[in-house]
Amino acid sequence: MSPLLRPSKRAQAIEPTLIRALRAGMGPETIDFGLGQTDLAVTEAVRRDLCARHDEPVRAPYTPNAGTPAARRAVADHVGVEPDQIMLTCGVQEGLAVAILGLCDPGDEVLVPDPGFPAYANLVRAAGASPVPYPLAAPTVERPGWGLDVAAVEERLSDAARLVILNNPSNPTGSVHGEANLRALLSLLSQRQIGWVSDEIYEDYVWEGQFISALQASDDGEGIVLSGLSKSHHMMGWRLGWMAGPSETLRALTPLHQHLVTCAPLPAQQAAVIALANHDQAMAQTRAEIGGRRRQVLEALGDVGLGSPPRSAGAFYLFVDVRPWLSKFGTTRAMAERLLEEEDVMVIPGEGFGASGLGHLRLAYTIGGEQLSEGLGRLRKFLMRH
Ligand SMILES: Cc1ncc(COP(=O)(O)O)c(C=O)c1O
Repeated sequence: MSPLLRPSKRAQAIEPTLIRALRAGMGPETIDFGLGQTDLAVTEAVRRDLCARHDEPVRAPYTPNAGTPAARRAVADHVGVEPDQIMLTCGVQEGLAVAILGLCDPGDEVLVPDPGFPAYANLVRAAGASPVPYPLAAPTVERPGWGLDVAAVEERLSDAARLVILNNPSNPTGSVHGEANLRALLSLLSQRQIGWVSDEIYEDYVWEGQFISALQASDDGEGIVLSGLSKSHHMMGWRLGWMAGPSETLRALTPLHQHLVTCAPLPAQQAAVIALANHDQAMAQTRAEIGGRRRQVLEALGDVGLGSPPRSAGAFYLFVDVRPWLSKFGTTRAMAERLLEEEDVMVIPGEGFGASGLGHLRLAYTIGGEQLSEGLGRLRKFLMRH
């Protein structure tokens, strides 16, 4: 590599994800339980609006940095805040980058969930700050899902702690944080004068228990909620997300967003107005489809010796405890590689999401129909053979 074009320390701090390394081994026929995106088409109202407008002349100007007034209003009404408390972003990914780069200085500590979405720790490192993983509480017989462990967060709050990142419902565990725990954590952070960022991209996928947004659970609102249309309206590639938070904080972060991306894509902002006006109806259909897949997965795995897999209460992930198989394979990575080799089925090893994910595999029920049945059949065969 040319020494003149040597990547910066910031770029080198980004660790390549295990997901990408494993996906390199996939073939054209691989059944893919690895990808965190649905195989569904954009929701009906969005598609109809696109078709209805296909004869119109197309102008594609930049929009105001925080978004068009119409799209900000639509998101604000959806979230239950005022438009000046909303900034539209290029997906939650950009919202995370703006929040972390915009709120953290070198030397700060940022608490990130473990297991958790790998972008959190990587963006914290890119900001020159230090990620401090806080373990989620592993499932027990009494509480079959993963949970928020407030004491574990508290133990890790040093004087350098600047921000705590929450993800609810959670990727990869599929858990939904209970209201009491969430309120206790946000109240602790308020006492300790530490901000929070809550990634709620899976808020529309709640199968068991009650979801409450950190915006509602917080008494002082000293945090930012991130969400968007990628998962709910299957618009992953359209790049439409939002930040909801105190208006003065968003105003202060707008120049960073401006110099990164200028604005969220205009067609996606236009689609957001339509998508959110039809949200409840669209989500009823989506939930029926994805909920059916979830039932199929839970049934198929329940009777192959996995006992009762921790039930995915939210999102579209099942985080399966495969420790009984590890005496044979050594690590979950080795197990995932063998599954790919022997059955051409892709799942993600839990250690790709942090040390607390060891001994687990993440299975995304983002595929349906024949693919899902065939994939589950192969997975069952593999587990029974070993
Ligand atoms: C927890 C979590 N946050 C954010 C994202 C990215 O969302 P977006 O497409 O809005 O950037 C993902 C995508 O898989 C995710 O799992």
